[in-house]
Amino acid sequence: MSYPFEIFDQSSSVINEGKVGWRCPSNIAIVKYWGKHGRQLPKNASLSFTLTNAHTDTYISYSENNKGRLSLSFLFEGKPNNAFEEKIKKFLESVTAFYPVLNRLNLEISSSNSFPHSSGIASSASAMAAIAMCICEIDQNTSGNENSEIDLKKASYLARLGSGSASRSVIPLLGAWGVHDKIINSSDLFAVDIDEVHDVFKTFHDDILIVSAAEKSVSSTAGHALMDGNVYSEARYQQANDRITQLKEILQAGDIDSFGKLAEDEAMTLHALMMCSDPSYVLLEPGTLDMIKEIRAFRQRTGTPIYFTLDAGPNIHLLYPDHVSAAAEKFVNQTLLPFTANGRVIKDKVGNGPQKLV
Ligand code: DP6
Repeated sequence: MSYPFEIFDQSSSVINEGKVGWRCPSNIAIVKYWGKHGRQLPKNASLSFTLTNAHTDTYISYSENNKGRLSLSFLFEGKPNNAFEEKIKKFLESVTAFYPVLNRLNLEISSSNSFPHSSGIASSASAMAAIAMCICEIDQNTSGNENSEIDLKKASYLARLGSGSASRSVIPLLGAWGVHDKIINSSDLFAVDIDEVHDVFKTFHDDILIVSAAEKSVSSTAGHALMDGNVYSEARYQQANDRITQLKEILQAGDIDSFGKLAEDEAMTLHALMMCSDPSYVLLEPGTLDMIKEIRAFRQRTGTPIYFTLDAGPNIHLLYPDHVSAAAEKFVNQTLLPFTANGRVIKDKVGNGPQKLV
């Protein structure tokens, strides 16, 4: 596999113990990644807002273990979690070619989310991004590069191997992943930032209205696999790339209405693809559709630029620019809250990406 970054060789260095910690946000895709091939390579380019409040905090204490292979323990929200531990261990063992120091380390990992796990909020995105940032820092610290900045492209590459959408969570503001002729330096291997974005999009809100916090019936990984047999898949990949071209111009121009239309069309396309997969499945809930109707009616009635998108789950992501936040708050409280699970909303905003905790 092509690996365009430096691989540090710590084989002759003494490993001092240490601790690192990173907070990484989730992200919400406007043009969705849906379909993959090879080792976590996307079938089309995707573009997302990096968020702020929906995040994962991950701390890793590391020390030399003299076993000749990686050992680790994993606490999720303060408690041992075997399923997650196995997943992380398998993931880290799969990247020792790029991070050879891992074979000499014992890692004590502890992680917590600011939002419910597997609720359609991309918990894998923030979780894998936070682990990737931690591993990149450990790799640097153990190779005498502790004072250099972490290369976000390198961290994005590692995060992608854990979960595709995680590649975009390390990029401040807006991240794009996947080769696209309108995005400078774009790559299937890591996400990059978007230049020339109108300031209005840097103020965008994303109120995540939780319809259900239950575990998804079909995981994203299984959903991607079903795209391989979907009769619409090739047309879809072309459509996604065309939408990135349009979105790039919309972002530059600050055209909020066109942005909203494109975001909603993408959300509907994603779920339509699920419904016409074989086997077919539906992740939308009645409350999701009720809210979609209310959002469209409110917009038509008042002209307020408030739009929605959806992730691979039933929860509504309400997107709007900061200058209508008072009207949005009133609308959410009066009209949308009754459709949520116990009034659960995560009020989020476009944000600046990874934050160092230790
Ligand atoms: C609908 O990144 O969760 O959220 O690579 O298998 O971990 P894996 O899938 P994942 O898929 C996310 C799909 C999506 C759209 C998106 O975020 O682009």
